[in-house]
Amino acid sequence: MKVDGKGYRSIWLDTDGWSVRIIDQRRLPHRFEVVRLTSVGEAAAAIAGMQVRGAPLIGATAAYGLALALRERPDDEGLQQALTRLRATRPTAVNLEWALGRVGRAVQEVPERERATTAYREAGLIADEDVEGNRAMGEHGLRLIREVAKRRGGEPVRVLTHCNAGWLATVDVGTATAPLYQAHREGIPLHVWVGETRPRNQGGALTAWELGHEGIPHTIIVDNAGGHIMQRGEVDLCIVGADRTTASGDVANKIGTYLKALAAHDLGIPFYVASPSSTIDWTLDSGGHIPIEERAAREVTHLTGATASGELATIQVTAPGSPVGNPAFDVTPARLITGLITERGVAPASREGLARLFPDQANALVEPVSAPE
Ligand code: MRU
Repeated sequence: MKVDGKGYRSIWLDTDGWSVRIIDQRRLPHRFEVVRLTSVGEAAAAIAGMQVRGAPLIGATAAYGLALALRERPDDEGLQQALTRLRATRPTAVNLEWALGRVGRAVQEVPERERATTAYREAGLIADEDVEGNRAMGEHGLRLIREVAKRRGGEPVRVLTHCNAGWLATVDVGTATAPLYQAHREGIPLHVWVGETRPRNQGGALTAWELGHEGIPHTIIVDNAGGHIMQRGEVDLCIVGADRTTASGDVANKIGTYLKALAAHDLGIPFYVASPSSTIDWTLDSGGHIPIEERAAREVTHLTGATASGELATIQVTAPGSPVGNPAFDVTPARLITGLITERGVAPASREGLARLFPDQANALVEPVSAPE
């Protein structure tokens, strides 16, 4: 996508042919800073510290992180150490394990001297496929928006989203935002309600920044306003992203997604989840088994933003000393989800619905890469 007229992906190979460039998302929307990753340690820290975030981008960064590791240590022990290190970064988005499994399987059978090259190639494929998949999801989601647009008779289609499932959360284009970008380019008038997404404000900081750069009308609302706005009849449909979708269609996504789904269900508002196949965990049958990341209390107690002079500053917003809980994701049960937008089409959120679109994957569970005997 374009930033001030220049096209960017959220992750790319540097012109040196081996180091990896990312956008430091902790600084947005106030600073646009590109950072260079030169080791598996830096890649792992970028994921854990949320310089990069969003399920598909976490996967792509982990894939490149493995390539960086194999450049230095291509032996089996080096491979296993890198896998362990990267796996420990964030637990909920299944794209991490999916991408590591893919690169790990690709390098396992090749001689050590070819492992790094093979890993870079696979990481590049993962990145390119993500972009293509998102474009396809955009097409499928666009059909849903066109349907609503017909009813709206020229008035804006009002979409509510949560967190950031935009291009910054993926390699490019985004998942939940892909249909919005396509609809906007087709001339369908839109208005997007952007849930701010406390505690880290991915909606207010990142999604709003993305939509602003694309010229898509939007309004940031506090997370607690979502139900009220829906009740007032100001939302035609909801589209959110996914960090892990079970084979039965339950979805883990950013904390607060469940409450929005409940409100949408109560009011009969369609609630769609954009979930590429890299986000589907075919090994799980119930959302209750999805590991939910608990993050640092400081994300809740403190906020970082720009002062009037443009400096970045962090302030405490909670009562000093009060204990804090910070679960980063919640699970929306399949029964609250109208449909899953995937790169192969829109599926009912059910085992049958997903299996119909992905018979190959539903029937063939892929073993994770295990340590050598
Ligand atoms: O903690 P984050 O910022 O990594 O969480 C991101 C989300 O929950 C996104 O909605 C999800 O990854 C979908 S990204 C296309």
